[in-house]
Amino acid sequence: MNEPEQRSNPERRRQKLYGRRKGPKLSAHQAELRRTLLSDLRFDLTKSALVQFSDTVREIWLEVGFGAGEHLFQLAGENPDVGLIGAEPYEMGVAKLLTKLVQNPMNNVRIHEGDGRDIIAALPDASLSRFFLLFPDPWPKTRHHKRRFLQTEMLDELARVMRPGAELRFATDDKSYLPYALERLMAHPSFDWTAKGPSDWKKRPESWPATRYEAKAIKGPPSYLALLRKKPDPARSGPGWFDRTASS
Ligand SMILES: C[S@@+](CC[C@H](N)C(=O)[O-])C[C@H]1O[C@@H](n2cnc3c(N)ncnc32)[C@H](O)[C@@H]1O
Repeated sequence: MNEPEQRSNPERRRQKLYGRRKGPKLSAHQAELRRTLLSDLRFDLTKSALVQFSDTVREIWLEVGFGAGEHLFQLAGENPDVGLIGAEPYEMGVAKLLTKLVQNPMNNVRIHEGDGRDIIAALPDASLSRFFLLFPDPWPKTRHHKRRFLQTEMLDELARVMRPGAELRFATDDKSYLPYALERLMAHPSFDWTAKGPSDWKKRPESWPATRYEAKAIKGPPSYLALLRKKPDPARSGPGWFDRTASS
């Protein structure tokens, strides 16, 4: 690819973080849902997140790499006043979430069939109340570590879009991703780790449904769940971006 071509296509310039978009062929029903329901629920990167949900939505949560969407679907059902945005580039994963949503319609879900970085880059400051990164692709080879989603630069971006007190939920069962992630999470000035002792590692935080990957991995290495909180940012006082009363 020559330079002008590279400049005109940012997707080809940035580090690719995920493995594949295409898998087995979608059924006719799944393909139809992508044409119809996905058009209705697609997160529009050019519009404010707030205006893409109904007036009853009071908070925005984001899950990056939702797989087949079980976790996102359950949380959306339990929290109708939360707008849940999910990012997943794998077509079949998105199709599986759409199948659940056509059977149980919910108007508080928006989907980006693509890279989670697109959503984070599009969000305004202090707009997210929860961020989920659950069993991200581990990229175990050292030369692939740069493909891991959780990097210090990504945490800087998350610190920008997360509200003070917002939760960052991370899970992995990969024994090399765990120290890699914790090292970066604990060193980051904008996040506090909520675990106070070893027992907190074993206690499942409230309302944290298991993902499909976690359920499948039950016989393998243990899964570690980490819950961090965004620290208050003295430079940004006030109610934050997502306050309907403040903005009206
Ligand atoms: C190991 S799977 C886990 C799926 C799900 N979270 C679970 O626990 O069942 C990791 C998922 O992250 C997705 N993924 C990888 N990089 C991503 C990115 N940059 N943005 C959004 N999703 C991504 C992959 O397509 C894959 O579905």
